[in-house]
Order: sequence, then structure tokens, then C-alpha cells
Amino acid sequence: MLWKALLAALISLLAASATDTYSRDDFPPNFLFGAATSAFQVEGAEDEDGRTPSIFDTFAQTAYGGYGNKSCDQYHKYEEDLALMAKMGLNAYRFSISWSRLIPDGRGPVNPKGMEYYNNLINELINHDIQPHVTLHHSDLPQALEDEYGGWLSRKVVRDFKTYADVCFREFGDRVKYWTTMNEPNIFVIEGYDEGFLPPQRCSPSPINNCSKGNSTAEPYIAAHNILLSHAAAASLYRKKYQDKQHGIIGINILTFGLLPLTNTTEDLDATERAKDLLMGWILNPIVFGDYPDTMKKNVGSRLPSFTKTESNLVKGSVDFLGINYYYTSYIKNIPQNHQVKGSSTFTDVAVEIVGTMFNATMPGGLLKVVDLLEQSYGNLPLYIHENGQLTPRSSSLDDWPRVKYLHGHIKAVLDGLRNGTNVKGYFVWSLLDVYELLGGYEISFGLYYVDLNDQNLRRQPKLSAEWYSNFLHGRTIDS
Ligand code: NOJ
Repeated sequence: MLWKALLAALISLLAASATDTYSRDDFPPNFLFGAATSAFQVEGAEDEDGRTPSIFDTFAQTAYGGYGNKSCDQYHKYEEDLALMAKMGLNAYRFSISWSRLIPDGRGPVNPKGMEYYNNLINELINHDIQPHVTLHHSDLPQALEDEYGGWLSRKVVRDFKTYADVCFREFGDRVKYWTTMNEPNIFVIEGYDEGFLPPQRCSPSPINNCSKGNSTAEPYIAAHNILLSHAAAASLYRKKYQDKQHGIIGINILTFGLLPLTNTTEDLDATERAKDLLMGWILNPIVFGDYPDTMKKNVGSRLPSFTKTESNLVKGSVDFLGINYYYTSYIKNIPQNHQVKGSSTFTDVAVEIVGTMFNATMPGGLLKVVDLLEQSYGNLPLYIHENGQLTPRSSSLDDWPRVKYLHGHIKAVLDGLRNGTNVKGYFVWSLLDVYELLGGYEISFGLYYVDLNDQNLRRQPKLSAEWYSNFLHGRTIDS
């Protein structure tokens, strides 16, 4: 263990220059520091104990060489994972509930085995003084609902999501105090209904993309609308029926981007505003102001659904907090109206193009800019950084120095923000383990722990980043 301790100490020293040294004690004691996963990406056991497939399962049958039936098998190994979290010093764990494990086929009877699993997981977290931060939908709508009525494209989903949320609040709400209805609905609809890369792999007709499902450029807007209505129905139910007794809070999560104009021309500056409206305002404007951004109404026209007065009132103000996922900063470029943007109808609609490769602009300052932008545009809601992390190729090498550097810089940015009065309440590393990745299956990784897929027991091994995070959380530079 000594070499690890020395290495971790050396890493801490290298990661921090004299001016940006900081420690856990610089943060408020009740600040949440956690790690995140999602049900399908971590649980395994996808066909055990009554669970039925979700749209994520369907995607993973073919994407990136398949799922391989186990992922991290947290379903059977949650106690082991809890011990890792406790040892690391986390005080929160963000995970999601698999709708089709709890209510197979999406509606109808509750699965006692599913209930038992989440009760055990939540109890174990509470026993370790780790706050459960629960997401209800993380790219995994039950496939049965997709097949029956088109999933998020149908208004029927609002009723079923509300019933599912009701079960979760009723069964787990005595112990779960942080509820997030949806993970990244903004990117879920762009990738899932426009570009066709992610579940449910539908895409807008375009001369450029190559996708067999999806037949209208209105689909991403319809799906987003039903997601917003489902979120609002669940949030309103929670507030009316549970919040007084359970004292929890409810919010939604979006993928945020640092957005910089490619040039300082008026065209690119305006395009950056439109990109902000599309990428964040699409979800946040209705939630904060009760309607879609004007630029979207103007550019998307009649394909953008509208809210009735009652719906607008239900959606407006429907969060107690915002969860934000932040990974990278991008440059935004204006494009001529109706100029095709790489098979994306939504970007074409608002005449913007994202320039720059994902994850290459890992600028910690970008996170701070996003927090400032959200606070200026959407008010002073409590913010939880629900995901932040560094992509690397998946490898058995435990030396993930780039991840250490990334986390060090971004946690420092959070601290800088707090010192300037931002309302950030928690920070979660994506991800606890090397999970089945949405963007690359088992080919890429974000994990603090390497999971050896060749080992029968899926052995977890701490990377340097786990050592670093643990040292930080324990307020020490040398592992004792
Ligand atoms: C976005 C998603 O929430 C998560 O499922 C994904 O694995 C990570 N960020 C990394 O891409």
C-alpha cells in the first residue's frame, strides 16, 4: 500500500500548483461529494428476477459490440460497491432506478424483486451515511411502452411515468430525499430522435444520416414536450402528496455545455445565443418561465408543440433544484438558414453548428461559466453537478493521470464558484466504476474504478483517480 500512498501524495502535489491548492475543508461540511452511475449502465442482471428490456437494452444489443450480460453486475455486488464508496469517503451516490425492473413492461403490477433490490440498495446507503440521489429515467424507458405506443412520442407516457414515479416516492421516499425525474432530456431527444445515435435510435429524415427509424423532423420536439409534461406531472404529484411528509426535493437534469462563439462576429455571437436556447433553454425555459425560448418558436414554427395554459402552469416552477452534467466546452458557429448540419435537424432549425471535438476542450473554467450562465439566465436555483468526468480509453492500466488532473481542476472551479457566491450544493464524478458507456460501450471509460471484465468476479480496482478523490475527501494527501 505504501507505494500507492506515496504515488497519491505525489499526484496531489503535481495536480495542485502552489496557487490552487485546496482541501475538502474549504467546502461547506454539508456539501455533497459523490459519484454517479445509471441503472442499465451498472446493474447487469438485465433479465433476472422479472426485469424486462428497456430501450437502452435494445440499443445495446447491437451498439459497440453489445452489453455482454453483466456490465458491473452491481445488482449482485452492491454491498461490495457500497463498501468502496464508504471507504472513499463519499457522502452521496447518484444512481437511477430501472423502470422496467420495478414495473416490468412499464405499467401494471410492481415487481417485488425489483422493490427488494432498491430497498436493499437504499438501506445500505443510509447505513453508510451516503445520501441516495435518485434519477427516475436515464435513457431506459421500458421497451414494452416503446412498442405499445411509441414511448416518449405518445402523450400516454405521461400517465405511465407519473404512476411509476408515484410507486418510487411511496416506496422509497421515506429514505430518498433527492429525486431527479429525467437525465439529460435535452441530449436524449437530440441523439435519440434527431441524430439516431442513442436509444431509441430514431432520427430525422436527412440526406446525411443513415437511420431506419423516425420519419419526421417534428419527433425530437414531440418527445421533449412529453418528457417535460411527464416531469411536471411527477413533480406536482410529489409536491402535493409526499413533500410535506418526506421533506425531499425534486428536480430535473440537463447536459450543459460551455458555449463559446467561434469568432467575435455578430453572426457567431447570435448563433451562440441560439445554441444556448436550443441546448439548455429547450428544457429550462419551460421549467423556469413556462414556455419555449422565442428563438425556437420562431425557427421551429408549427413543429414545436405548444403548452396549454394549464400545462404551462404545471411545468413552470416544477423544480426545487437543477442537476447539471458538464464535460466540455465547445465553439459555436453560425450557418446559413436551412443549411444541413451533419444530419441534425434541430441544429439546422436554429442555424448553428457545434465546432470542436468532444472532450478535447477540458477547460475547468468552462464549468464555472456554465454555472454563472445558468444562474444569470434561470435564477438562483440550487445546483447539483450531477456528472463531471474525464473520458479515457478503457484500459487495465490504473494510471489515469489525465482524470486526476481533470477532477482536480473542475473541483477547484466549483470551489472558486462557491467563493463567488454560486449556489452549487453538490458534485458527482461520472462515474464510480467503468460502466457500460452510452458513448462507447466497454471501449471507453470514465470510472474511478476499473472493472475487469475478464475476471469472473468482475474485480474492481482503484485507479489513481480513486486514490486522489479519496485523499481529497478525507482531507489528506497521504493515504493512511
Ligand atoms: C451522459 C450520461 O448521463 C451517461 O449515461 C453517460 O455515460 C455519460 N454522460 C458519459 O457519456
